[in-house]
Amino acid sequence: MPPSFWPFGRSKDAEPEQSLIQKIDPHRIPQHVAIIMDGNGRWAKRRGLPRVAGHRAGVQSLRRVLETCEEFGIRYLTVYAFSTENWKRPADEVNALFDLLVEYLQRELDTLHDKGVQIRAIGKVSELPENPRKELERAVRHTANNDKLILNVALNYGGRIEIVEAVKAIARQARDGQIDPERIDEAFLNRHLYTADVPDPDLLIRPSGELRLSNFLLWQSAYTEIWVTPTLWPDFGRKEMIQALVDYQGRDRRFGGVKV
Ligand code: FPP
Repeated sequence: MPPSFWPFGRSKDAEPEQSLIQKIDPHRIPQHVAIIMDGNGRWAKRRGLPRVAGHRAGVQSLRRVLETCEEFGIRYLTVYAFSTENWKRPADEVNALFDLLVEYLQRELDTLHDKGVQIRAIGKVSELPENPRKELERAVRHTANNDKLILNVALNYGGRIEIVEAVKAIARQARDGQIDPERIDEAFLNRHLYTADVPDPDLLIRPSGELRLSNFLLWQSAYTEIWVTPTLWPDFGRKEMIQALVDYQGRDRRFGGVKV
């Protein structure tokens, strides 16, 4: 049951998937969807299972959501898999998360490749343990020429450190006389982010009812539509994704302007 402050109404839960699909305008599909895959731990706890069982179920959700993105022609999907703050978790959980990543890439790479999915990673990937880092690099190389859907996996990612790294790189160029500081603008800074050649997310989905960004895509989300659902990530699937798309299309995006 959604909490009492829930702003999106309750009746929608009852709306069948088929009638939701009919509401989707194929010409207004978001180009880039970002997801904070939250609630795995709570999902496991409610079932008396170890937290890692929640993460494992979360991988199945990723698979379902990726398929739904393919179905509706979404070009970019960015998922928050491991934040720079997630190192604070017990070592067992951290290791299990990286094992799941390796397992996912080993098992799914060929299928993803055949579907034309390009895998990319954003974050301080060079600081990941060797095994997941190598597996990731292999997946990135293997799918580099695909362009049907870009799957951006945020790993060891933090929005603030991303901006700090960009500022450092720009400051070095200024120090070395390569750029005129007066010419630094938003587009210039943007080109120094991990997401340099990716459009800003149109839609950010946060399952599990939390109402915060948690250091995810801080710069890029300036005008992103945020959609929150109480559904925990392991229970998130095609229907929730379709509901998010319908609600997104009902939003009035003005980017700070007025409607004409
Ligand atoms: C947050 O839920 C989830 C994570 C920190 C990890 C997300 C990872 C996966 C879904 C699987 C691995 C990813 C790939 C790409 C194979 P939480 O643990 O904070 O949940 P809680 O808030 O309920 O405790």
